[in-house]
Amino acid sequence: MTSGTSHPSGLTTTRAPFIEEARSRGELFIHQPWDDYSEENHQSWRNLYARMQERWERHANHRFLEGLGSLGLNGDEVPRLSDVNRFLAPLTGFEAKPVSGYVPAYLFFDCLGRREFPTTITIRDVATPDYLPEPDIFHDIAGHVPMHTDPAFADTLVRFGKAAAGAVERLVAQGNPEEIEERVASNLRAMARFFWFTIEFGLMRDRENPDELRVYGSGLLSSYGEIEYAIESPAVQRYPFQLEWVINQGFRIDRYQPLLFVVDSFDHLFEEVTKLEAWMQSGRLDHVAPGEPVISPEEVRISLEAARSKVG
Ligand SMILES: [Fe+2]
Repeated sequence: MTSGTSHPSGLTTTRAPFIEEARSRGELFIHQPWDDYSEENHQSWRNLYARMQERWERHANHRFLEGLGSLGLNGDEVPRLSDVNRFLAPLTGFEAKPVSGYVPAYLFFDCLGRREFPTTITIRDVATPDYLPEPDIFHDIAGHVPMHTDPAFADTLVRFGKAAAGAVERLVAQGNPEEIEERVASNLRAMARFFWFTIEFGLMRDRENPDELRVYGSGLLSSYGEIEYAIESPAVQRYPFQLEWVINQGFRIDRYQPLLFVVDSFDHLFEEVTKLEAWMQSGRLDHVAPGEPVISPEEVRISLEAARSKVG
């Protein structure tokens, strides 16, 4: 089905012919065929957006709420990335860049370092609005991108992306040390854990009432059920952010998180990225605890190949 037809085939998660075709051609970076969204897809966006309103008001940090406003996001229909970018670029230089699916870790981090955010364009089925392990456009645009309007947060993300991509480049530049595959996997695991417990599932003290917690992690900001669970459930363990713990802590993506970490402020988060970078440079991430997330040999191979072509 081509775009612009009167009966679009839709861009529903796992059921989007446009995406299947792009993948079969090996295309990772694509365009957003906006006319392909079906009425059901737009309804899915409307439902998701409408029910998040009161949860965002109650639990989201202030910069996210400001970001929603400055992006001009609304609940009427699936947004066009070109519209989002028109508002976003003048604020922080960030750009939502459409992708056909999973972006290998090194390439993902490298994009962040260039202020590009790999963005899923499919949307979850209207019949199943709750959390799903794979990202969709609601998670990426309504969960992540409002944070990218904030200069301090955007700079933190860039610094993280450069440090994470730099971890692979460092090992390549060392002239391929012993056990390079294991070390690359370890660094990617540490970086993925940091990203997970901050950018995806991070909690922060409220700036006015430090005893209260607010959400800044996008996995929570895009989940109607978990945003409240994360703040209110007595079943969740919430600890002050500790870098040595986070880089060694595994996680599961298919359930509500039982363990979350709290930072004091965006300045604190930035300091932790600085520390992470220093630990990476000194080799302290070369042997973190094994476990989740499992970094496959294929992932390591792709990351090494991409870093080698960049380092030269
Ligand atoms: Fe995400």
